[in-house]
Amino acid sequence: MTAAVPDLSIATLGPARIESPLAGMLDAWRTTEHYVSEHDRVLLDDTLSMAVSRGTSVAELPSLEPCGPRRKLFFDPSKTRAGIVTCGGLCPGLNDVIRGLVRSLTNHYGVRRVTGFRNGYQGFIASYGHGIVDLTPEYVDNISGEGGTVLGTSRGHQDPEEIVDCLERLNINVLFVIGGDGSMRGAMQIAKEAADRELRISVVGIPKTIDNDIPYIDQSFGFQTAFSRAAESIRAVNVEATSTPHGVGLVKLMGRHSGFIASYAALANHDADVVLIPEVPFGLDGDDGLLEYVRRRVRERGHVVLVVAEGAGQEMLVPTAANGKAGPATTDASGNTTLRDIGPYLRERIIERLVADGVTPSVRYIDPSYAIRSVPANAYDKAYCLRLSNHAVHAAMSGRTAMVVGRLRRRFVHIPMSLAVSRRNQVDPHGDLWMSVLEATGQPMRFGPESEPPRPRKKRVAAAG
Ligand code: F6P
Repeated sequence: MTAAVPDLSIATLGPARIESPLAGMLDAWRTTEHYVSEHDRVLLDDTLSMAVSRGTSVAELPSLEPCGPRRKLFFDPSKTRAGIVTCGGLCPGLNDVIRGLVRSLTNHYGVRRVTGFRNGYQGFIASYGHGIVDLTPEYVDNISGEGGTVLGTSRGHQDPEEIVDCLERLNINVLFVIGGDGSMRGAMQIAKEAADRELRISVVGIPKTIDNDIPYIDQSFGFQTAFSRAAESIRAVNVEATSTPHGVGLVKLMGRHSGFIASYAALANHDADVVLIPEVPFGLDGDDGLLEYVRRRVRERGHVVLVVAEGAGQEMLVPTAANGKAGPATTDASGNTTLRDIGPYLRERIIERLVADGVTPSVRYIDPSYAIRSVPANAYDKAYCLRLSNHAVHAAMSGRTAMVVGRLRRRFVHIPMSLAVSRRNQVDPHGDLWMSVLEATGQPMRFGPESEPPRPRKKRVAAAG
């Protein structure tokens, strides 16, 4: 059967006719295993069977445009004004991306004016009165040592017409949106509104999510920092749980729909005995339920350490209203359903089970919550942020729009925004990552009678986790 090919084409504002200040450097660069020339493409499929299933010639295999500087630009740098906005929840590395964008625009291309919009999309809307920031190289020089974002952020949708009014008023030609899937949907609307008005405004995204749930990219920036911090909490509960009779360590980590943080943090130091993620349903009761497994571990080994992603096991909890009490589920400004708190629920059920077995457990519960995402990026993420921001600037200056930059299997590529929001990246219960988690923890493939069998495998066009 021929696999469906997603639309991988990248929109441009028009022909690029202006010689880039970086053009000279490109003469020495050719496609190699470490670089892809602007005339080449990056293949979407990376296995023989996936490529063969396309049923097409090699030249027609689905492929993505590589990132990188272009010889010709659409925008004249000396007459270009750029804007930057950070949206949604915090993530390590936001300030590094801002700094990278400003430096690349000003130092590499000679753009003279870069404007920062405050507090997410609210920053464009006059009635909020947030004001703007002049982002000079001096302003951004020392911002990367701090967590958070110097521009501030907010969740929620704002009217794309008002946003484009603001861009027009300020003569902004290129806008960089640093945000998650909701923010990228907003960015698509901004690009469309600008195009409908026949304005030549490039909108380029740098995907941001500590949940690592944006598809078609290997890893989002800040994710490595976040799971490293999360691993410290697992280490801590392990020390506690192994230092006391009948110790139970339980760590709840962020991860609304995707259990990447929980999985990678657990792999980082082998301390976890059980990892629970939203992608793999589990049951508590019965001989093969989680509680019996925990009971046996405590009896046989004297302690147990569990890691649970916040989105796991939601089906077994009562919906939570805005006041935290039982009631109809609410949503946040981004439209995400408010999660019910799985951590305390699991803790209570585990205590109940162990007490019923005649054991008095010492339970150590840690919910590091925002502490894993409000920190500065580590060195790896800082370097990654810089490279992503350089590529975002190259793309925007060449006139590309409605796209995000990302790294797919080591290659930096341009991804249409529509594709980046087309689905969610999740841990594949039949994938390599989950297999590593099962190997590291020794936990069974599933817990309990209540758990559904793992969901049928979806047809994937690109590997995910
Ligand atoms: O989407 C990223 C994320 O950090 C999730 O892991 C978490 O559930 C959520 O954001 C928290 O959002 P907020 O900042 O609105 O509390």
